[in-house]
Amino acid sequence: MNIIIITGASSGIGREFARQMDGHFDRTEEFWLVARSREKLEALAKDLKHRTRIFAMDITREESLDALEEAVFQSHAVVRILIGCAGYGIMGSFCEQEPRLETGMVRLNCEALTDLTHRMIPYMRRGSRIIQMASSAAFLPQPGFAVYAATKAYVLSFSRALGEELKNAGIYVTSVCPGPVDTPFFDIAEATGSTLAVKKYTMAEASRVVALALKDSYYRRPVSVCSLPIKALWALSKAVPHSAILHVMAQMKKKGL
Ligand SMILES: NC(=O)c1ccc[n+]([C@@H]2O[C@H](COP(=O)([O-])OP(=O)(O)OC[C@H]3O[C@@H](n4cnc5c(N)ncnc54)[C@H](OP(=O)(O)O)[C@@H]3O)[C@@H](O)[C@H]2O)c1
Repeated sequence: MNIIIITGASSGIGREFARQMDGHFDRTEEFWLVARSREKLEALAKDLKHRTRIFAMDITREESLDALEEAVFQSHAVVRILIGCAGYGIMGSFCEQEPRLETGMVRLNCEALTDLTHRMIPYMRRGSRIIQMASSAAFLPQPGFAVYAATKAYVLSFSRALGEELKNAGIYVTSVCPGPVDTPFFDIAEATGSTLAVKKYTMAEASRVVALALKDSYYRRPVSVCSLPIKALWALSKAVPHSAILHVMAQMKKKGL
């Protein structure tokens, strides 16, 4: 049986992946939808034409990943696509945040993503794909969003290296690096702080980010960056010393931009 696994499928970008892939991928028997909110997953499953299986679980718990791996094993499933969307960010100055929320980002955005990827690769075949949600926050350090940006730099670096390692096995990895996307992400992220006000001018629709990510993954591109301003930021982050960019960003923040 061929399956597609989507973590973070109950909301935002993960849910959009499920919706856009539904009705395509004829040779995939089931979509496996993973997140903590069972009701939201069930509501999504009802809307989909594809057969689904729901895994209402916290993937930062080892027993959840054990159960998911066991289900793949017992079903003799081949993982055609693994999509890692489960993640959160907390804005605000590092010293003022609850340590539990800061380390929680590392556990979910990095550790759980890495652990699940490691567990699923043995169930992949030539032509299988991995899509990991990084972020444009991966491109440079972000004061006021320090831990989140660091976790996303990890996802980008990890995914690119893994993609190189798996090329010969015919498994392709795409790291998705959008700027701000219009999802419930900001309900959590902005509860404790804010980022640059210009963010609202670069806000993308989840549908656009996901459509491009699927296309980039199909064409085996290692990185997917949606929209011109974010591509410009990516280029800038490679061409200009980060200290200079951070200085400009600090000035912009002072001026409320
Ligand atoms: N929105 C943006 O601006 C943006 C930009 C760049 C990158 N990203 C990245 O894109 C990914 C998806 O974000 P989004 O915008 O779609 O945010 P979202 O709407 O808040 O979705 C986050 C998803 O993660 C799931 N999740 C959270 N904690 C979990 C846990 N412990 N175990 C299992 N699932 C968990 C949530 O479901 P439950 O609460 O039901 O568990 C939800 O489905 C994240 O990695 C985010 O960092 C977002």
